[in-house]
Amino acid sequence: MRQMLLFLLVLTTLLAKEKDSFITEQEYAANLYANPRGIGCNKCHGKKGEGMIISRYKDKNEKKVLKTGSIQNLSFQNFKDAFTQKKGVMPKYFLTSSELKTLYNYLSIRKK
Ligand code: HEC
Repeated sequence: MRQMLLFLLVLTTLLAKEKDSFITEQEYAANLYANPRGIGCNKCHGKKGEGMIISRYKDKNEKKVLKTGSIQNLSFQNFKDAFTQKKGVMPKYFLTSSELKTLYNYLSIRKK
């Protein structure tokens, strides 16, 4: 009986470990960044939020460039504002505040 209990204890500990390592916070954040229930952030902000050229085009014969700057050094307030205050190109998303926090932590380089 005692051995059985011990066996069960070991088993549940192992299973709990397995569950924890199923997907790390970092992997979850990377997936969310690339697939945030809409067009991936990486398509316009670069692989790690470093910024990129989205497109080059001509307007009234003038060459124009549509690009984003880095979003790696914003305050959380400024980061959040991008989702509540529509400016133009940035699409609308329906992310929870916990998801925003995950993305923010993932992109912020200050703390690393
Ligand atoms: C279709 C391109 C596009 C996609 C996709 C996109 N963004 Fe943006 N984002 C922009 C542009 C362009 C701006 C600059 C403001 C504007 O024109 O809306 C911006 C602005 C921002 C800002 C504010 C930057 C600042 O300096 O204040 C943040 C933060 C941001 N985006 C985060 C994200 C995150 C996180 C995602 C994914 C959930 C995302 N964006 C998806 C194009 C995009």
